[in-house]
Amino acid sequence: TCRMEELQQSADVFAYQPISGYFPFVRVTMTHYFTDNWEKVKNFKAKPDDVVIATYPKAGTTWMSEIVDQLFFGEIRRESSSPSIFDRVPFLEFYQIESLLTSPRLIKTHLPVQLVPQSFWEQNCRMIYVARNPKDIMVSYYHFDRMNKIQPDPGAWEEYIDKFNTGQLVFGSWYDHVQGWWEKSRSYSRICYVFFEDMREDPAREISRLCSFLGLSPNETQKKEVLRKTGFEEMKKSMADALSNNDEFDESVSPFMRKGIVGDWKNHFTVAQNEAFNEEYRKKMKESDLKFKMEI
Ligand code: PPS
Repeated sequence: TCRMEELQQSADVFAYQPISGYFPFVRVTMTHYFTDNWEKVKNFKAKPDDVVIATYPKAGTTWMSEIVDQLFFGEIRRESSSPSIFDRVPFLEFYQIESLLTSPRLIKTHLPVQLVPQSFWEQNCRMIYVARNPKDIMVSYYHFDRMNKIQPDPGAWEEYIDKFNTGQLVFGSWYDHVQGWWEKSRSYSRICYVFFEDMREDPAREISRLCSFLGLSPNETQKKEVLRKTGFEEMKKSMADALSNNDEFDESVSPFMRKGIVGDWKNHFTVAQNEAFNEEYRKKMKESDLKFKMEI
């Protein structure tokens, strides 16, 4: 298969023992769900007005998807007949993007910057990258791995922190992901780098920033409506159907719309785990000027 060829040609052997269900794909830990379609993803033909939402898993992909969709199409989406956000802003890695009829097309991806299909750069597409602090990502991802049937089992929390630090979660190293996109945003001006914590702190400000980036100028009423529809509780309600029909998720284990806050890591990390993590974090981020807020 193309996956095997790709693996044989370019994947480095990882220093760790592969865990069942995961494998290194071009040096990024993946499961087959995200790579089965690889030949198609790699050769994807972007359109110049495509808007890409890129994130490491659990950084606020769905939230940003709803915001951008509302900004572009809020006026024409009638709540009752609107498809779920997973269909309005589909996943590059496994969706038939060609069947998306909107203009612009809004496309999401968890790919690290080096694996983004070439065509998006050639077409000079706009991209929005959402980054979230690593401690809340870990907590959110841990609960997601428990409830998502297509994700590998997360195992014990203590070990999960090690997997996070050594890039063994699906989509690989969070450190490489956030730094890779950050570096790229220096040379490629059509990346808007947004932080989950800033969106929580002042969503109106972040939405205005997005509007300037996207060349949109909604009036005050429209902006208020976007804010209302993309609030945590409102999205939890509007997504209820999509989530109950989702075969991948077992919402009785942990809901997809879990808490949506900054700082829930304090309920999961012991003091010792936090200190050890901070030490590791300092080492891995020391070359970078990228700064995360662990609380707001
Ligand atoms: S995924 O599976 O990677 O696409 O997940 P993703 O959408 O990136 O991240 C899910 C987390 O985002 C939270 N979320 C929100 N927070 C605040 N406001 C809104 N509107 C919102 N929508 C989603 C969601 O609750 C997950 O975070 P946790 O910390 O687990 O609650």
